Amino acid sequence: MTKKFLDLGMQPLANNYLKRDDLIKKKKELFYHLEVGFNSKTKLVSILNTVPSKKMFDDNYPYRSSMSKTMLLSFKKLSKYLRVFFKPNYILEIGSNDGSLIKNFNKNKVICVEPCKNVAKITKKLGYKTFTDFWNIKLARKIKTINKREIDLIYSANTLSHINNLNSVFSSICHVMSDQGILIIEDPSLLECLKNVSYDQFYNEHIYVFSLISINEVIKKHGLEVFDIEKLETHGGSLRYYIKRKSNNKFKISERVKKQLNEEIKYKLHKYSTFIKFRKKVENSKKGLKKILEDIKKRRKKIIGYGATAKASTVLNYCNIKDETIDYFLDTTPDKVNKFMPGTHILIKPYDKKSLNYADYVFLGAWNFRKEIFKKEKKFLMGGGKFITHVTKPRIIKS
Ligand code: SAH
Ligand code: TYD
Repeated sequence: MTKKFLDLGMQPLANNYLKRDDLIKKKKELFYHLEVGFNSKTKLVSILNTVPSKKMFDDNYPYRSSMSKTMLLSFKKLSKYLRVFFKPNYILEIGSNDGSLIKNFNKNKVICVEPCKNVAKITKKLGYKTFTDFWNIKLARKIKTINKREIDLIYSANTLSHINNLNSVFSSICHVMSDQGILIIEDPSLLECLKNVSYDQFYNEHIYVFSLISINEVIKKHGLEVFDIEKLETHGGSLRYYIKRKSNNKFKISERVKKQLNEEIKYKLHKYSTFIKFRKKVENSKKGLKKILEDIKKRRKKIIGYGATAKASTVLNYCNIKDETIDYFLDTTPDKVNKFMPGTHILIKPYDKKSLNYADYVFLGAWNFRKEIFKKEKKFLMGGGKFITHVTKPRIIKS
């Protein structure tokens, strides 16, 4: 039922940054074939060859939500809104990572679920009740047995799209959510992904890129419905879905839901042919980016990368860009620095403002934080520094 429309080649696990020792010992990296398809029944867009969760989310997981001010601010704003308008009594967050959202709430009001031990340790240390587990029915049952209080708000950002079995995800949610409770999920928007030609939203962890159309299809089987939706600028354009039980009449369905649905239908997100057009744009994006980089290298200029993202891993491996082209990446994440990008083995150096002075061009790995980064690097841009991005199309950005 899921028909392939895009082939991004053999790819390493996107967050599997390598140590110098791994390179010396020629440690074998796990590669998978990154193909993307469209399911004409559920309208879900997903990768076709998945990697077991335990292989991706282990005790060395490097990603930290708090590395961007944009995300911290977005979570803070949402928390304030939730406190005022929903007044939750007891909150469950699935994929709580380093607590960037949950730390805006009182410790005795929340439960965190985070499978990576090294990350779960952070919220535990802050005093939040944290289950170091994958979200599934077994955990849902355990939580319901242990906690006598009703959970009236479940929140999950950039996580449910990482879980293969969506039916298990939503039935487990229904198991713990109170009758009048709400579920809020947020993930990159398929519509924006297509508009941005941001094919790097696809990698082993991002099993799905959701649309409202596909979310509706998935949740209706569980007696759930979207009653409001918010467009966010985060991660290149995300959607925040407000979901309730169909039997819950406390909330009216907002006009925004209809508007989003119409926009998606107008863009034909429910048709396979749309994705074939996207494939052509992706192929052109690859050619365009390679040409820009080759022209710069012919002029013997220095290129570095900014933001050693999982997304950049997709781009580098798909376009076959190695350290002859990009000398190194800069990143603020402690667990990424002094390691090497998966597959392409480009070094990641700790972020240092001065490093930009030695570069002629900077490839934006974290293009989704462009605003935040450009604000931070105003001096570099004003001094004639140039950024390179592939979103929405490959180009050089000057001040
Ligand atoms: N919510 C944060 C983190 C997103 S990264 C944010 O929006 O910034 C995704 C997180 O989900 C990781 O911390 C990962 O360990 C966690 N995760 C992955 N699979 C999961 C699963 N099956 N159940 C719960 N959490 C999961
Ligand atoms: P992100 O785009 O959230 O994720 P993904 O890995 O899922 O594609 O990652 C942003 C990365 O960019 C993260 O490694 C931190 C880094 N970063 C910086 O180094 N400096 C910055 O100013 C910002 C905003 C991010």
